[in-house]
Formats: sequence, C-alpha cells, structure tokens
Amino acid sequence: MSNSPELITDLTQLAQWVQTQSDNGLSVGLVPTMGALHAGHLSLVKSAAQETDSVLVTIFVNPTQFAPDEDLQQYPRDLEGDLQLLGSVATVTVFAPAVADMYPTENSAATDIESNKLDNVATRWEGERRPGHFLGVTTIVHKLFTLTKAQVAFFGRKDYQQLRVIERLTEEHHHNIKIVGCPIMREEDGLAMSSRNAYLTPTQRTQATAIYKGLQAASSMANSKEMAAAELQEVVRKQLGTAEINRIDYVAVVHPKSLEPLELLDRTEQIKQLKLGAIILVAVFVGNTRLIDNIYIPPINS
Ligand code: PAJ
Repeated sequence: MSNSPELITDLTQLAQWVQTQSDNGLSVGLVPTMGALHAGHLSLVKSAAQETDSVLVTIFVNPTQFAPDEDLQQYPRDLEGDLQLLGSVATVTVFAPAVADMYPTENSAATDIESNKLDNVATRWEGERRPGHFLGVTTIVHKLFTLTKAQVAFFGRKDYQQLRVIERLTEEHHHNIKIVGCPIMREEDGLAMSSRNAYLTPTQRTQATAIYKGLQAASSMANSKEMAAAELQEVVRKQLGTAEINRIDYVAVVHPKSLEPLELLDRTEQIKQLKLGAIILVAVFVGNTRLIDNIYIPPINS
C-alpha cells in the first residue's frame, strides 16, 4: 500500500473532514503525534486502522509542553518524510496545523485543564521534573479531542505517565472517547524507539541500551522472588552505572494506576487483590538527551 495521505492544515478543512466522516457514519481513530515518525508511531497508526474506519494522524510540535530550556527549536521536523512513511502503512488523513491556529491567543494554554486537578498521576515523576509539561500536553490533547470528535484515540505505553494523565483528563472532562494504550516498540537491541534517539552520538546510542537492559534485569528478578522496590531500583541503577549513565532523574517502582511509589513489589494486600502488578519507570539523561522508558511487572500468581 502506498497512497500519499490527504493533508489538512487549517481548521475549516478539518471541520469539513470531521463532518464528512460523521455524515457517512464512519468512526474516527485519532493518533496524536509531534512528527519525526518512527515505527513506534506507525504501530499506533496500524492499531487505529484496524479498529476504526477513518484514521486521523495529527502532526504538531506542541510548544506549550516544552519548558523554555528544552528542545522545542531543535525538535526534529520532517513533514514530507512523515507523509511518505504514513502512506506506506495505511490510508490515513494527516492534520498538521500551524501554531497560530491551535493557539489563537497567547494565553490559550491557560485553560482550566491544570495538571494538578488530575491528582498525583500528573504531579509526580515527569510532572515534577518537567513543570508545566502535562499542562501543555493536556491542553493540546483536549483541543484535539474537541476538534476531531474522534471515537477512539491511540497513545503509546512508552509515555506511560502521559497515557495515565490522558485517561484521567478524559474522565475529568467527560470526553466521549475511548483511549487505547499500545505496546512499546523497541529497536533490535531493546532501546525504546523515540524521536529523540536521533540526538544520540554512536557512543551514546550504545550507552542508551543499558536502560532496557536494567529494566529487563529488574523484571526477571521481580518475577522470580519477592523483592523490595528499593532492591529493584538498585538493579536498574547498577546497569545504568555500568554504562556510565550517571544523570538519573528517577527510577521508580509504581502502582500502574495511581503511579504512587510501591515499597514491596506486588506484595501489598491491595495490589494482590487488584492483581495489577507494577510499573518500573525510568528517566535519564544520556549526554544532553533525556530518555524515558518503563516496563510492566505482572502480578505474581496471576
Ligand atoms: P510523540 O512523542 O510524537 O508521541 C506520539 C505518540 O507515539 C505517543 O502516544 C507516544 O507514546 C507514542 N510513541 C512514541 N514512541 C513510541 C514507542 N517506542 N512505542 C510505542 N508508542 C510510542 O507524545 C507526544 O508526541 C505528545 O506529547 C502528544 C501526545 C502528541 C501531545 O503533543
């Protein structure tokens, strides 16, 4: 399959497209992205194509989710390449708006969708390390949900906390949309695919493989015996240390829903009853590039 996707860049065109889908009784699957697409993004597109009639991929480097000292200017942009990649995997429509269309006034980001209204799911971890980040994410995702009237939206588990924040946003703001969390796509050596991997030098790229190695090591230990969260975190940190990844924002063993830190992995009564298991979250800098990853530890005896 290789059809160049239909490209929509303004809001009037988008509104017409949305109306046409509705008139024809077609369900819309939304895949929000910031472009520089890779196989991780494409996996979301494939899921959307399977589950819904019309797939809308949005490509928008959302300025409000970047802090002033972050990589907004530098963030990779390649609309032509993205369109080609998308055309090779599915029939999709692309919405790539201008910043002025999404944020008509300077204060547009100051909606009532404050991260802190979404409880600890948004305030810990990334919320703490990247103040304002989830305010930017929830603001743009809320706008996209409203504009596209999609029935289903697809997000990667790679950004696990973001997925939980968006699930909470959807609940709190009564969006009538189903959120689907898709598996993490990895390079052959295990590194989670990310548009930011492009910043890594060859040496850093090798170092970065320690992130998933650490997560895997912790996961296999967790599956074989009862362990304190601190011990598991130590396993990950040790692996990172071996690769000289010394700038660690956090390594945390958390409850998969609340994202609260756990002390004893999967052994508290509550977790046992809910049979939820745990997530290990990692955020590190490799050189100047900030990378995040996570792994799901299923409940024991499940
Ligand atoms: P972006 O980083 O471009 O990611 C778009 C979507 O692709 C997100 O849902 C992300 O979790 C998913 N994704 C990225 N890498 C993945 C991988 N290796 N495997 C599976 N899924 C992966 O996340 C954002 O953009 C923005 O914050 C956005 C939600 C678009 C709001 O601006």
